[in-house]
Amino acid sequence: MNCERGCAHPVADADALAGAPLAVRLLGEDWVLWRDEAGAPRAAPDRCPHRGARLSLGRVCDGMLECAYHGWRFDGEGRCTRIPALPGFTPPASHGLHRVALVEAHGLLWLQPDGAPPCLPAFEAEHDARLRKLNVGPYDVAASAPRVVENFLDLAHFGFVHEGWLGDRAHVELADYRVEPTPTGFVASGCRAWQPQSNRLSSEGSWVDYRYELTSPYTAVLTKLPEQQGGYRDEIALFVCPVDEEASRVWFRMALTDFDSSDEQIRAFQHTIFTQDQPVLESQRPKRLPLAGGEVHCAADRSSAAYRRFLRERDISFGVLP
Ligand code: FES
Ligand SMILES: [Fe+2]
Repeated sequence: MNCERGCAHPVADADALAGAPLAVRLLGEDWVLWRDEAGAPRAAPDRCPHRGARLSLGRVCDGMLECAYHGWRFDGEGRCTRIPALPGFTPPASHGLHRVALVEAHGLLWLQPDGAPPCLPAFEAEHDARLRKLNVGPYDVAASAPRVVENFLDLAHFGFVHEGWLGDRAHVELADYRVEPTPTGFVASGCRAWQPQSNRLSSEGSWVDYRYELTSPYTAVLTKLPEQQGGYRDEIALFVCPVDEEASRVWFRMALTDFDSSDEQIRAFQHTIFTQDQPVLESQRPKRLPLAGGEVHCAADRSSAAYRRFLRERDISFGVLP
């Protein structure tokens, strides 16, 4: 099984899927989402098996997806239950949809094109009641998913792209950090950065210890442990949807010790940071991440080298140049 098709990807906010079908794009293909009679999210290719019309143009009736063209209906299992032009006819299994796995997690809907059950990336902080959770995004970015992930794992840009926020030109030297493989990717630990404004509430600069974990080909988790924050961790998950080879949809799942700020204030901070990254990301050429040659590396790029190696080993083909 192709590796990127055999794991679940975020495709939409869970609350964006209500009483109408929703069209999404993942891995260069169009998909339709809907909720069945019990409210469970369902997904299938956005193409009617009858004459190829887009099913997302239709509607949902009693939990069944109804095609806009000739009104064929499909239940939550993808079975065709009704062909209005032939009321007495029982449609055979061949008239049904190829339903694929779709689950709700972290406030998002996750679609897996091949195989079941869905294989979701780990995010332990989700279950830590001491941390406040919220999502920021989605951002539609004209960059490949691997470029977005590599940027998230990159420490050496803070003093330049995020000057005055996550970094400072006077403190751009990187200490040695460790990279160790895990079953789903790798962990980079021992990362340190001087941050003038490491989060919305910080009033002065501080050293921040970082840990990064790659949790699937297109997801990663950042753990921040500022010196002044005894015992508590801020965790930020990056969830990237590989929409097309050179286009992505990006969410951040924040798990924070900050219970004082409003949702809007936290979103505004993260929005500032990401919109500093976005023009750089969209400027990178080639847009697909080159896995063999074409770019030069230095010792500070250890985590990016580990990411490229991981993508090669897993035969990831979407959004990369082999
Ligand atoms: S194309 Fe969908 S019912 Fe005919
Ligand atoms: Fe950045």
